[in-house]
Amino acid sequence: MGRQSGFTVHLSLTESANRLPAETEAELLRIAQEAITNARKHAEAENLWVTLTVDPPNAFLQVEDDGRGLGRGRVDSYGLQIMRERAKRLRTDVTVEPREPRGTVVEVRLGDEPDTLPEAAAAPAAAGAGLEETPHR
Ligand SMILES: Nc1ncnc2c1ncn2[C@@H]1O[C@H](COP(=O)(O)OP(=O)(O)O)[C@@H](O)[C@H]1O
Ligand SMILES: [Mg+2]
Repeated sequence: MGRQSGFTVHLSLTESANRLPAETEAELLRIAQEAITNARKHAEAENLWVTLTVDPPNAFLQVEDDGRGLGRGRVDSYGLQIMRERAKRLRTDVTVEPREPRGTVVEVRLGDEPDTLPEAAAAPAAAGAGLEETPHR
């Protein structure tokens, strides 16, 4: 395991009065948690920026660090893979990319692109309920 480092956290939260379906919110937070844990464990960063903007059905999560960057990573690790699976459940993708001039950026966007919109966009009540009823494994 990499050494844990102290860094300055810059948090930017923008939330509308409405909330995302509970399960969507939970998945997003778990993605954020893994990205933040990775930055703490691996990045040796000085700064961590966490941005969360929620305006259902849209949402944007960004976790950025100014650390050493992804490098080659491990092959026997599942954190990033599980993040991708969680994003898929939300019918979107997570991007994990190098940040300029250094570090790593993890991003998840819900609802911006018509073809990646959760069904919530078309039928908020029904689709929202559907997601909430999905048992978490
Ligand atoms: N923010 C980051 N900065 C630097 N390296 C990272 C970062 N996030 C992930 N990595 C690298 O990618 C690898 C895979 O990450 P992950 O799948 O979460 O596994 P784990 O955290 O269990 O090692 C890590 O072992 C690390 O080498
Ligand atoms: Mg990890």
